[in-house]
Amino acid sequence: MLNEKVAGLLNAQVNKEFYSAYLYLAFSNYFSEEGLDGFSNWYRIQAQEERDHAMLFVQYMQNNDARVTFNAIEKPEFSAEKHIDVLNAGLKHERHVTGLINNIYGTAYEVKDFRTMQFLDWFVKEQGEEETKANDLIRKMELFGSDPKSLYLLDQEMAARTYAAPALTL
Ligand code: FEO
Repeated sequence: MLNEKVAGLLNAQVNKEFYSAYLYLAFSNYFSEEGLDGFSNWYRIQAQEERDHAMLFVQYMQNNDARVTFNAIEKPEFSAEKHIDVLNAGLKHERHVTGLINNIYGTAYEVKDFRTMQFLDWFVKEQGEEETKANDLIRKMELFGSDPKSLYLLDQEMAARTYAAPALTL
């Protein structure tokens, strides 16, 4: 049996990951409306990854006989006057998620739940990569976003992103 507090945080994380998927789908919608289909594609795939993350938490809880409760997913809110505002909101969100993962990890550590810590190891690494990706994107947009031709090429680059299932299997 999982420790009650750890199970509660894992359950909350299911919701947070689905919220992340919602948020990135909202970003995808925004860029679609802006005529930047490559960015829209990039965030649609990002949303798929987030759904995968949610499913991994569900699977882990099921594997450990912990009850999963689904709660309402918050409405994604963000304001964007410029394209880069969305990218910055993405980075801010990933930093927030890193904090959530670290908090679960810390709680698992306190109760010597080494199995959950091992499960979360993948997410710790993943969060590092997510923050790097979000940062890289901001840098590119800062460098090229104000020039229409460069923005077009950047959008083409974003269009090339394809979905890959997570490397973690349970
Ligand atoms: Fe599920 Fe973007 O972290």
